[in-house]
Amino acid sequence: MANDGVHDPVNTGRRRFLSATTAVVGAVGVGFTAVPFIKSWNPSARAKLAGAPVVADISALQEGQRLIVEWRGQPIWIVKRSKAILDALHGLDGRLKDPESDEKDQQPDYVLKQNPELRSIKPDISVLVGLCTHLGCSPEMVAEIRPEPYDPQWKGGYFCPCHKSRFDMSGRVFKDVPAPINLKVPAHHYQDDNTIIIGVDPQGAA
Ligand code: FES
Repeated sequence: MANDGVHDPVNTGRRRFLSATTAVVGAVGVGFTAVPFIKSWNPSARAKLAGAPVVADISALQEGQRLIVEWRGQPIWIVKRSKAILDALHGLDGRLKDPESDEKDQQPDYVLKQNPELRSIKPDISVLVGLCTHLGCSPEMVAEIRPEPYDPQWKGGYFCPCHKSRFDMSGRVFKDVPAPINLKVPAHHYQDDNTIIIGVDPQGAA
């Protein structure tokens, strides 16, 4: 099977392991607003300790919404981007520190294959570790395309209020902010169209 990260690459043994140990903690929000839960249950203490993979069900995720799951004690953001947001990512390169994601540790190679500026397996679904690369605060999602006090040419993205770092909707960091590098994209793959496994690369991925 092609290693596109979308089809389930997990062998049967690993799937059994996942179903026994993985868990989802989910909350969905639009922009700043937390809206009702999709699902929530907790991994066992043992699974948490082992840093077990996490299963995220994105079947209810709508455009402009963010599902937050916890993996290895970190918030993982899963955001469904609209066409307007995707279009707005074009033309930002000159304003970004690392538009091509040359910093290899910040994402797996397979999220750069289709379109490096999207940093995702599927174009519309962005998966990011929601921790600022400056001092580790969790930035706010400001997904609306409109002038903001901190950026009159704002095209949607993430804003870290503590020291005003900004990232675009692919997690790419802007120039002239304290955060040095792009937000991290965690290892992940699609078990099926609506199920993402956080913490496991697609089979055969480098
Ligand atoms: S932790 Fe984000 S700007 Fe300082």
